Amino acid sequence: MLVENNVALQPYNTFGIVARAQRLARLRAEAEVLQLMSSADWAADTAAAPPFVLGGGSNLVITGDVKPLVLKVEIAGRRLLEETAKGWLVEGGAGENWHAFVAWTLEQGWPGLENLALIPGSVGASPVQNIGAYGVELQDRFHSLDAIDLYTGKAFSLDAAQCGFGYRDSVFKHAPAGEKGLGLAGRALITRVRFWLPKPWKPVLGYLDLERKMAETGVSAPDARQIFDWVVAIRRAKLPDPAVIGNAGSFFKNPTVNEVQCADIIARDPKVVHYPMPDGSIKLAAGWLIDACGWKGKSVGNAGVFERQALVLVNRGGATGGEVMTLAKAIQTSVYERFGIRLEPEPVVI
Ligand code: EPU
Repeated sequence: MLVENNVALQPYNTFGIVARAQRLARLRAEAEVLQLMSSADWAADTAAAPPFVLGGGSNLVITGDVKPLVLKVEIAGRRLLEETAKGWLVEGGAGENWHAFVAWTLEQGWPGLENLALIPGSVGASPVQNIGAYGVELQDRFHSLDAIDLYTGKAFSLDAAQCGFGYRDSVFKHAPAGEKGLGLAGRALITRVRFWLPKPWKPVLGYLDLERKMAETGVSAPDARQIFDWVVAIRRAKLPDPAVIGNAGSFFKNPTVNEVQCADIIARDPKVVHYPMPDGSIKLAAGWLIDACGWKGKSVGNAGVFERQALVLVNRGGATGGEVMTLAKAIQTSVYERFGIRLEPEPVVI
């Protein structure tokens, strides 16, 4: 374990924003975390601010050089822990690449994560924002995780209920002293995540884009590999590849409203894309709202709105975190003025 000074962060954030970490520690094993915490520099490194845990950097906007100690989690390893008549229990190290992990489970013959193919980021970051796509959320397949408490150095495990999952939300996104209390941001360093993939496998095909694929191909009973391939193709067609155009996926969460608010918005624009939720609330497509305000293809400095999906902000080359946030605020203002809806950003801003 080595703490490096003045480290370029551009390769470690999918937005491709140029910034530096004053101090960065690469952690390849649990023991290295404990070694770091008992090192002579730890107290000084964490005196002014808690450390910042960096996963795959795929849900992050960096607005300047990062002063807190950056912990770059590189813990590897993937294994089957258990197979029973009811399912497979699979574990991944926090530093494993998410998409490679999903592909590996399918190659082993353990289906269940296929709808979550090609999501950028790491296994350890997947529970933080409860990643979700095409009708499946991480919490639907999550079993438990291991973490280290950066306040005490103690290892602990959490089950799904303890992670407090919500739509693109978990305890790991909330500060310990924040409004929700008991948050674990800056406190828990996730080391390993376990997934429960139930038998018999059941395909999740309710999402419109997947229904379209079934209609186009005439395949009405796809296997998990087929769904994986479709999801990869849909994402490639709609979303920019961070290796080519910097981005952090959807920049805003899809807002939920009640029936009265929805009726008001429909009166302003009858074409608004909306989905009734099981709890009676209505989810609105943030991408549609932004698109309706004319933002597709627009830019502020080098930050822009992706031409094919208005929910995705992109780095057109050399964008600063400040430009991204200025663009985000301008979008929020115009959506609020037109529809009375406050959009909430999805990424973590540092
Ligand atoms: N739409 C527009 N214009 C746009 C963008 C979208 O009219 O510019 C409309 C679409 O036509 C569609 C609706 O809005 O009717 C929803 O669009 P889409 O199916 O692309 O999904 P989304 O709601 O924009 C969400 C997730 C994505 C996830 C997809 C598929 C959020 C914030 N985003 O996007 O997640 O991949 O569904 O499940 O929930 C991410 O979180 O980074 C992410 C990419």
